[in-house]
Amino acid sequence: MKILIINGPNMQLLGKREPEIYGNSTLAELETELKFYASKIKVDLVFFQSNHEGDIVDKIGACNDTYTGIVINPAAYTHTSLAIHDAIKGCGVKTIEVHLSNIHSRESIRHTSLTAPACIGQITGFGINSYKLAIDALTRI
Ligand code: DQA
Repeated sequence: MKILIINGPNMQLLGKREPEIYGNSTLAELETELKFYASKIKVDLVFFQSNHEGDIVDKIGACNDTYTGIVINPAAYTHTSLAIHDAIKGCGVKTIEVHLSNIHSRESIRHTSLTAPACIGQITGFGINSYKLAIDALTRI
């Protein structure tokens, strides 16, 4: 089983970006921990991070048979991107949206996700465990 983990804009700043909200781990540390977690349940992970909406759309669009599932944290694009919504819908790969923070307990502008309706589910508010829960969920479907 091979899962693509996509992180959107500003996720490269993890570790120094609002640590009281997003924690102290860097993106590299998060990826290392996820890789270790997934290896124990025999899942291969491929990571992709971009600050550019079109690059994320291109990556999702190129997925087809390569991946069993996608775990995406669209970051700020969650709240704005119909293009990422359409890419998820169009790619035919089961996708789960994740967030480190609980977007529903934050500013009201973050309560709406344009991308979640294209996904099979959303996991939000559990830090790195949001990603682990999403990986688990994909292995059970
Ligand atoms: C985030 C939540 C988004 O609202 C925000 O724009 C992010 C990170 C999260 O993981 O909690 O960049 O997706």
